Amino acid sequence: MARPSFRAAPVRVRVPATSANLGPGFDVFALALDLYDDVVLRIADQGLSVDVAGEGADDLPRNARHLVVKAVRAAFDALGGQPRGLEVVCANRIPQSRGLGSSAAAIVAGIVAARALVLGGEELLDDAAALALAATVEGHADNVAACLLGGLTLAWNEQGLARALRLDPVGLAPILFVPATRSSTARGRRVLPDAVPLADAAANAARAALLVPALTGRPDLLFAATQDRLHQGVRAVVMPRTGALLDKLRADGRPAVLSGSGPAVLVLHDGGADLSSYAGKTWQVLRLAVDGTGATVLPVHG
Ligand code: HSE
Repeated sequence: MARPSFRAAPVRVRVPATSANLGPGFDVFALALDLYDDVVLRIADQGLSVDVAGEGADDLPRNARHLVVKAVRAAFDALGGQPRGLEVVCANRIPQSRGLGSSAAAIVAGIVAARALVLGGEELLDDAAALALAATVEGHADNVAACLLGGLTLAWNEQGLARALRLDPVGLAPILFVPATRSSTARGRRVLPDAVPLADAAANAARAALLVPALTGRPDLLFAATQDRLHQGVRAVVMPRTGALLDKLRADGRPAVLSGSGPAVLVLHDGGADLSSYAGKTWQVLRLAVDGTGATVLPVHG
């Protein structure tokens, strides 16, 4: 592969938050939401500089360990070679380690920004290849699919490569309950069993199938379609406050699910009711719209 030609002008990429699983669709379904991180990437003469503002500014690394930089490096390798130097500036709004896809956002932003800085980058690394690369860096495909494509996505693996289908959700009014405490996805995956009873797998297959019509125009099916027997129960044991909120919302008939691996909780529709009374002192309530666009390259001002 020929070495890439890099654009001198910087690029800005805007990436949405995502909520994965949506109940029974573990590692499959995800929804893009209108809360965004921005990443500006510029080719420099030498070295690496990383600046972070907003969410995670106090603890994210300012070096090659930053996830945006790792994704940028992986994308440049896939595009044929690294530039001499790089400047990365992150403006983060997506809460970190809460189950809102902040790591997927960093990875997708890095890949899409690197591709935009290479002449002909979109042909060399199309969306299918970008998705496969992002899923490899992330370790699972659901959040990165929705972050890249927007809307509602279903992800699967084919011959070791992540693939995704994008659908337009209809009739959702997402509400997120976000705690101050964090929980890593790695921890949230370690508690999961290696095998599950056939009856639980069959129950989840039914509910996940029902999720497709429920999310695309049959909101009356949302409560039944969001019942999970694979991952939420075991995760609730290590996140008891999240488990208690989920139980309460579902006992009241709300279509509530664990957002990704938690600890945030997503309600897909409030049914016209005011859900703020569930918040107490523990939960910040975010009413978000679905993002229909996914990762977007924007002009850089100033
Ligand atoms: N499907 C992933 C998990 C999503 O549940 O571990 C993490 O955000």
